[in-house]
Amino acid sequence: AAVPVHLTLNGIPVTAEVAPNAILLDVLRDRLGLTGTKKGCDHGQCGACTVHLDGRAINACLRLAVMCEGQAITTIEGLAQEGRLHPVQQAFLDHDAFQCGYCSPGQIMSAVALLADPRVPGDVGSVREAMSGNLCRCGAYQNILAAIQDARL
Ligand code: FES
Repeated sequence: AAVPVHLTLNGIPVTAEVAPNAILLDVLRDRLGLTGTKKGCDHGQCGACTVHLDGRAINACLRLAVMCEGQAITTIEGLAQEGRLHPVQQAFLDHDAFQCGYCSPGQIMSAVALLADPRVPGDVGSVREAMSGNLCRCGAYQNILAAIQDARL
């Protein structure tokens, strides 16, 4: 039987009736219409499904929706405010930090979380390490790193 899960989704209270075994990624995309969050591997390897759960980056493919009861979720759709791109989104555009773009939402969500995390030092090696859960099959890593370092300023 479906159970209700209450979320604050991109700042808006939402209630969804979900199966107890429904995966957050599928609920976001298929039930709530937020298809900006991508499904790549569906088993925690690629980072395409990265969203923020109470401000922390998580893989939405590894999380049951019911585990998020009462929590705040931010997806790529929630980053731009008042018609303006988030600075990290703008930096990705400025640096051509994508080719096909499929990994970009996850890359950007991870980048926003790491730039907000005072435990992650700003050197390139630390940023690479912090971003290592986000794969880019096109190999746009240099431009992704440049965009993140630019957005830090
Ligand atoms: Fe979740 Fe690949 S789809 S990590």
